[in-house]
Amino acid sequence: MGGVNQMDILPVLVTGATGRVGRVVIDQLLDAGVPVRALTRRSEAAATLPAKAEVFTGDLTVPESLDPALNGAGAVFLVWTAPPRTAEAVVERLAAHVRRVVFLSSPHQTPHPFFQQPNPMAVLHADIERLIAATGIESTIIRPGMFASNSLAWWAPAIRAGDVVRWPYSAAESAPVDDRDIAAVAARTLHQGGYVGGDYVLTGPESLTLAAQVDVIAAALGRRIAFEEMSPDEFRGLWEGTVPRPAIDMLLAAWSAAVGQPAYVTTAVADVLGTAPRAFRQWAVDHAIAFTKGS
Ligand SMILES: NC(=O)c1ccc[n+]([C@@H]2O[C@H](COP(=O)([O-])OP(=O)(O)OC[C@H]3O[C@@H](n4cnc5c(N)ncnc54)[C@H](OP(=O)(O)O)[C@@H]3O)[C@@H](O)[C@H]2O)c1
Repeated sequence: MGGVNQMDILPVLVTGATGRVGRVVIDQLLDAGVPVRALTRRSEAAATLPAKAEVFTGDLTVPESLDPALNGAGAVFLVWTAPPRTAEAVVERLAAHVRRVVFLSSPHQTPHPFFQQPNPMAVLHADIERLIAATGIESTIIRPGMFASNSLAWWAPAIRAGDVVRWPYSAAESAPVDDRDIAAVAARTLHQGGYVGGDYVLTGPESLTLAAQVDVIAAALGRRIAFEEMSPDEFRGLWEGTVPRPAIDMLLAAWSAAVGQPAYVTTAVADVLGTAPRAFRQWAVDHAIAFTKGS
């Protein structure tokens, strides 16, 4: 599958470099000996990035700000959490400068109810994929399902404060995928040959209800944590103003559709990496401290 090629010597530009996936992609690429350029809008973030990464300041909403980072790069890891307006101009710029792009998308094409709830993020991802395809640039699309790390944002505050997680849809099933596996697949496809045109739906190895996921975290902490069912309306009221409304709508719709539906599980992580995807249990053990300290 693999093989050394020119991508190994030209730097890879990692966007979303300070984010959950991009930050680990940087480590993976550096470990593989690949020169890395890291993009951030915030020059002060350079202090949080590895010294071996060359940090560039740039903003996806200001396409020309990307030029210094793109000049002389071989590939780009594209993470898009910005508003959609400048996507076309940015993708054109990428194609003019580099040979390959790996895009962090989502499984919006997967015919499982969990992934088939209409939402603006899916529309944006589909649009960016179309823009990339239209340029003819070498591309790979990475489509993770629910990140394992979502559970930190969702449940860590309650677990730090007590022994009860109140949440809707306890019986909704998903197969959380470890962020490290997502990043490892991205890094592999960025710097090795054999993955151009690849389209990978990445999931964890097993379907777990939300209640079972809380149990897994409790076991990692050596504690008992109760899951108390809350109504979707109550959830909406609590999270309104903290999380964008389309994201709340999408989550509630996905969980509602996933009650009693075993999650979609793929072999893509193992197919690309040659190692089994990390179990949610492993993720919880490795991140247990984050449920007890800090934010
Ligand atoms: N969470 C899930 O379960 C899930 C599942 C499937 C797909 N996804 C997709 O994964 C992506 C998010 O990845 P993530 O969680 O690793 O990211 P993240 O932790 O949310 O971080 C966002 C990153 O985007 C950068 N960024 C934001 N606005 C920017 C702009 N205007 N210009 C340049 N950079 C900008 C930020 O960098 P600075 O602040 O340093 O500039 C930061 O590094 C989204 O597209 C999401 O739809 C998520």
